[in-house]
Amino acid sequence: MQIKALVVGLLAGVSFGASAMAADLSIVLGDTGSGLAFLQSQVDRYMAANPEDKVTIVPMPSSTTDQFGQYRLWLAAGNTDIDVYTTDVIWAPQLADQFVDLTDAMKDIVADYFPAIIESQTANGKLVALPSFTDAPALFYRKDLLEKYGQPVPKTWDEMAAVAKVVMDGERAAGNPDMWGFVFQGNSYEGLTCDALEWVKSSGGGQIIEADGTISINNPKAAAAIERAKGWVGTISPPGVLTYQEEEARGVWQLGNAVFMRNWPYAYGLGGADDSPIKGKFDVTTLPSATADDKSAATLGGWNLAVSKYSKSPEAAIRLVRFLSSADEQKRRAIEQTNLPTRIATYDDAEVAAAAPIIPRWKDVFQNAVPRPSAPA
Ligand code: GLC
Repeated sequence: MQIKALVVGLLAGVSFGASAMAADLSIVLGDTGSGLAFLQSQVDRYMAANPEDKVTIVPMPSSTTDQFGQYRLWLAAGNTDIDVYTTDVIWAPQLADQFVDLTDAMKDIVADYFPAIIESQTANGKLVALPSFTDAPALFYRKDLLEKYGQPVPKTWDEMAAVAKVVMDGERAAGNPDMWGFVFQGNSYEGLTCDALEWVKSSGGGQIIEADGTISINNPKAAAAIERAKGWVGTISPPGVLTYQEEEARGVWQLGNAVFMRNWPYAYGLGGADDSPIKGKFDVTTLPSATADDKSAATLGGWNLAVSKYSKSPEAAIRLVRFLSSADEQKRRAIEQTNLPTRIATYDDAEVAAAAPIIPRWKDVFQNAVPRPSAPA
């Protein structure tokens, strides 16, 4: 056992004092889909490889807005109970001071990641978090129903609304009163910010705050984009969409009660699962734009792993973070969760492409995605 501990210590590059090696770690995660069960499987693999460490998952609400509020309180209070935080792509600038600088600890692996994603997690030269997965949304559509009604895969928002209405009316007349045209994230939280940024940007209305700090949202094209979205509520979208986050939208969609859905790639794998009523009946395309001359806009999302400055076991926490973001774990995540990898090579993996075709297809989409203005703000 002593020899084993020594080897584990050597591999992890930490000091040999027994107390520095064994650690009780806690990691927080806001669950979406089956994310919590997947993290548990990762933690189990980590503990099998690092028997000295014990890792506990602290589950959080799925709303990133709620998580952020809680984490800020914990960090402000110097909470030592949480070692590793799962962090949204937009938080790095605001929480940078509360996390360990990972620059040195990750210097041998950062070149394996997309430079722009590393950049998004760097604040004042400090690597605030190690990217776990990136995110860019899709327009999910019911292939079978578009075919049934002879409708095209829409390119503009108005076309999407028109197709949604034709199919919705047809399906209702055919005996499904629960059918809706379009579900999205309409609740008042960060998810709606993402959706609204897409409506505005894809209408030529700017990106709320531009990269140079100019506040651009007050313009006629932005106003028209928001008005258009307002028109969907209660017509092609259920009135309840104003309470929907990702999972509520997916719930309606996956039961087979929506023609279109705006959501992140995680919904692709779940919709295609064996127990899903829409398995084999849907596909994804890029989000529509206002006119054929405007460009589709996808908000850049994604999740990262940060080590709390108040952790009592920062070396072990770093070991866990490296493991969770390793090439093997990113591959598993790509296959089992259909989350977009942050490591470049995973996009060329044939097993990933076969199990999760959305991943190679979405490489360009996330690379051209629109960042939210958290850095300039
Ligand atoms: C997804 C994105 C994240 C975004 C959130 C909004 O989880 O990855 O960046 O903030 O959705 O609900």
